[in-house]
Amino acid sequence: MKNKEFINKIITGESLEVLSKIEDNSIDLILTDPPYFLDKLDNNWTHKKVSDKRNRQVIKSLPAGMKFDRQQGVKFYEWYSKISKEAFRVLKAGGFFFSFSSPRLYHRMASAMDDTGFEIRDCFLWVYTQNQMKAMSLNHFIDKMDISKEKKEILKNRLSGWKTPQIKSNFEPIAMAQKPTDGTFLNNFIKNEVGLLNTNIRVGDNMYPSNILSVEGVNEIMDKHFLISKPNNEKGNFNIHMTVKPLELCKYLISLSVYSKDAVVLDPFVGSGTVALASKELGKNYIGIDINPEYVKIAEKRLNTSQYSADEEIDGLYITTRKKLSSLQAKLI
Ligand SMILES: C[S@@+](CC[C@H](N)C(=O)[O-])C[C@H]1O[C@@H](n2cnc3c(N)ncnc32)[C@H](O)[C@@H]1O
Repeated sequence: MKNKEFINKIITGESLEVLSKIEDNSIDLILTDPPYFLDKLDNNWTHKKVSDKRNRQVIKSLPAGMKFDRQQGVKFYEWYSKISKEAFRVLKAGGFFFSFSSPRLYHRMASAMDDTGFEIRDCFLWVYTQNQMKAMSLNHFIDKMDISKEKKEILKNRLSGWKTPQIKSNFEPIAMAQKPTDGTFLNNFIKNEVGLLNTNIRVGDNMYPSNILSVEGVNEIMDKHFLISKPNNEKGNFNIHMTVKPLELCKYLISLSVYSKDAVVLDPFVGSGTVALASKELGKNYIGIDINPEYVKIAEKRLNTSQYSADEEIDGLYITTRKKLSSLQAKLI
């Protein structure tokens, strides 16, 4: 088997370094949630640095995620070009590369993937309702102006409700890129067992998969079309990672794009191990990489304590119609 020393393991290490040891054309799917390059969340991310509230909440008087700095995007592009180059090399021809991002820097990430040779096939939106507004009132700055108290009040009234341009963010874009196929889709699939999407899976109320994803349960129409499955304390109480992705979302993307029973799913920024766990629960192989040993321990704990067995999947498919979902839940109780 290729990549023997890495299969079904979480490797502590710098992603580019570990990726360089993975064999060419050996990976079926890359599904990852890289650092977004906002605030301190870059490729030198340490848990101590990002979990300190002083670093996270107020960066030079702006709320987390809202420091506007052109260099963030430039650096992200340069670094993600190197990651994408390795991703391109290790993926099988026709293999998919799903990568989460932020609305602000998605364009840089997708351009890096595109410029490396990937075909950008789509952009998925993970939609959610829970988030805080980040826009700030300017009253604080008005108070510091060298004008009379009366003029300050007039200005504050004029600007009442008008805030800095940071809208409440309620989606995360996920690029769906594909390494070019070797010949036609059909020939490539026969040869490599990658490159097609599984339209047997269902979301919401027996609907075809779409590029809008929700795991919340919002209202009847949204749920009917886009609801994947509601999370159920899947993160684990011991999990201190700050950007854990929903397990069901990862399972959905793997089920949508992975065919082979022996497939290997790679997450070069595995954090607390969600993609690895999703792969394991679907009976697929995984390789996880993270630079922070404390996250690797959490990922290993999640993987070791997972009660779920891939045999529980109904007909080997990931189907979330309400009826089947409740029968699946009944099976698990
Ligand atoms: C957005 S988080 C991933 C969270 C993950 N999806 C989960 O559900 O827990 C990104 C991860 O990338 C890791 N990371 C940052 N820079 C890295 C690098 N150069 N090499 C490897 N891992 C890195 C961080 O430690 C962090 O855990």
